[in-house]
Amino acid sequence: MKSGCSRTLCSASLLLLVHAQPLLSQTDVKSKALAQVFSVGSNSHGELGLGTYQPTTVPVACPKGPFNAVRAFAAGYRSAALTSEGKVYFWGSSWLHDLTVPGDGSYNSYHASAATTIDVPNPTLLSSMYSNVIAHVAAGSNHLLVSTDRGIIFAQGENRFGQLGTGDIENRDGFEQIADFSDSLVVDLQTSLQNSAAVLGNGKLYMWGENTYGQMGLDSEELGSASRGVFRVPTFIKTLEKHFIVAVSLGTQFIVVLDAHGNVFAQGRNDFGQLGLGHYDPVPSPTLVSQVPNVVAIACGLHHTVLLNISGDVFVTGSNSAGQLGLGDQKQRNTFTHVQFEPQVVCDTTDSSMLQGETA
Ligand SMILES: *[C@@H]1O[C@H](CO)[C@@H](O)[C@H](O)[C@H]1NC(C)=O
Repeated sequence: MKSGCSRTLCSASLLLLVHAQPLLSQTDVKSKALAQVFSVGSNSHGELGLGTYQPTTVPVACPKGPFNAVRAFAAGYRSAALTSEGKVYFWGSSWLHDLTVPGDGSYNSYHASAATTIDVPNPTLLSSMYSNVIAHVAAGSNHLLVSTDRGIIFAQGENRFGQLGTGDIENRDGFEQIADFSDSLVVDLQTSLQNSAAVLGNGKLYMWGENTYGQMGLDSEELGSASRGVFRVPTFIKTLEKHFIVAVSLGTQFIVVLDAHGNVFAQGRNDFGQLGLGHYDPVPSPTLVSQVPNVVAIACGLHHTVLLNISGDVFVTGSNSAGQLGLGDQKQRNTFTHVQFEPQVVCDTTDSSMLQGETA
């Protein structure tokens, strides 16, 4: 995926991490089976987890774990994986000072790419989180959020946009607890470069980070004097309180939200038509995407959006400079456009039928 989108593809038996540049966003796909992680793409900071800094154009299995991975994440120059036991492995460009590095236990064997980051080319256990069972991981290009099975959120990394939710804009080398949602638990945790978001088990959405394009979707009362400023703590998005939110996805300064009825709301930056509302103006409050009902999954790239409806049909809008919309051209769209998949013929000995392709 050229245009800045990194994706995790998976089948029942493997997780494939695809790294391409420039990368600012991540998507992830859950695998039902325990999985071997394979990586492909750029590797300048060890983000493929192969113990080297050589890029590859074919998927290569990560030999040193992570083991029993259920999800893998590619984000910028870094990667992470969550195991079936709730442990997090991490590799690539890192701000972390709490990794257990195999070997001599120091970072000196890894080359420092900048004063404040180190490169860790092998999947490494996040030892500081060891006493917690991690349920969700969200990897921004320079920050990491994890939430535990008890609804506690920790954040670490870069914080210039307030994206850590610590109440300030100081970077954090180690993990800091930023929220305790133990009364409702966390069901979705997502980030972009500028923002972070959590969906709770009670259907409420919290966001934090910057708000240049109104992507936080706050009303004027919530905005207060902060106007389009930076929101440094997890902030309840009241404009969506009448809707039971089940998922959120963050692009570059825009966000897309899914409710329990399959309705999609979009807000924020829209200069590529990424909100799919038929125009290119920024939208500072959550706006229903009435064109596509019955949605079950949402995903934002850097400047484009993908929706999946309950029948398995895929709709796309936004930037298409690298053909990332899958429409066979490189023209951007500002309304959701149905993706036609090549029909796939599936045969067995008794029957053969046409099945529609699915997105990974
Ligand atoms: C999903 O999208 C397809 C293509 O537009 C449409 O024919 C179908 O009715 C949609 N399914 C639902 C349940 O809305």
